[in-house]
Amino acid sequence: MQIIIVKDEVEGGQKGYQVFADAKKNGAHVFGLATGSTPITTYKDIIASDLDFSDSISINLDEYIGLSADNDQSYNYFMHKNLFNQKPFKTSYLPNGLAKDIDAEAKRYDKVIADNPIDLQILGLGRNGHIGFNEPGTSREIGTHRVSLTQSTIDANARFFEHEEDVPKEALSMGLSSIMKSKHILLEAYGAEKADAVKGMIEGPDTPDLPASILQNHDNVTVILDEAAASKLTNK
Ligand code: GLP
Repeated sequence: MQIIIVKDEVEGGQKGYQVFADAKKNGAHVFGLATGSTPITTYKDIIASDLDFSDSISINLDEYIGLSADNDQSYNYFMHKNLFNQKPFKTSYLPNGLAKDIDAEAKRYDKVIADNPIDLQILGLGRNGHIGFNEPGTSREIGTHRVSLTQSTIDANARFFEHEEDVPKEALSMGLSSIMKSKHILLEAYGAEKADAVKGMIEGPDTPDLPASILQNHDNVTVILDEAAASKLTNK
């Protein structure tokens, strides 16, 4: 893992943007994208740049089950607001959280990923070490799947909703095996509440109890941390 420690998420966004710009220069065509507050500064810098994704493909990590694309809490809405409206891609794929048959939707999504191998995957990090919506204990072998969100994730995401009871309890997530097939992975984490997950991901045992620790087995991972998120690392 290449670990870059920055002052704050503004500087992290600039570094993250640079990773995208370099990937694009080197021919990357398929970009795996993430939601959450973490990638927003990177997306802002991409929007402000002259990078052109009109010939590129994007594939998102996850979506809540039960929210329509025009619900302002859906990840589809988030991606349009924070990136696609200003930087359109040729094709953007997201799981459909309203699909009648969630298992069929998961299969469809696995085919999308198989047909479009991801060149660069950006990730945030859950406070419990989840990536995408792969919660602790998730099998590393399964593909796109239905997830029951943990209370910790529901609590963390409640800040985006008017009432905690509005937070969906289920999601569809790309699997860890698909994430691991990406040629290059960029993970960003900011803030003290991520420090334990960051330490486990980098210095802890490689265990399904902390899903992001699987990244120790990937040979092309860039991690961007602010000082607070890096504060519990022994080797800086
Ligand atoms: C959600 C998303 C993850 C994201 C995580 C952290 O659970 N499914 O992809 O990494 O939240 O969010 P934030 O970046 O807001 O801390």
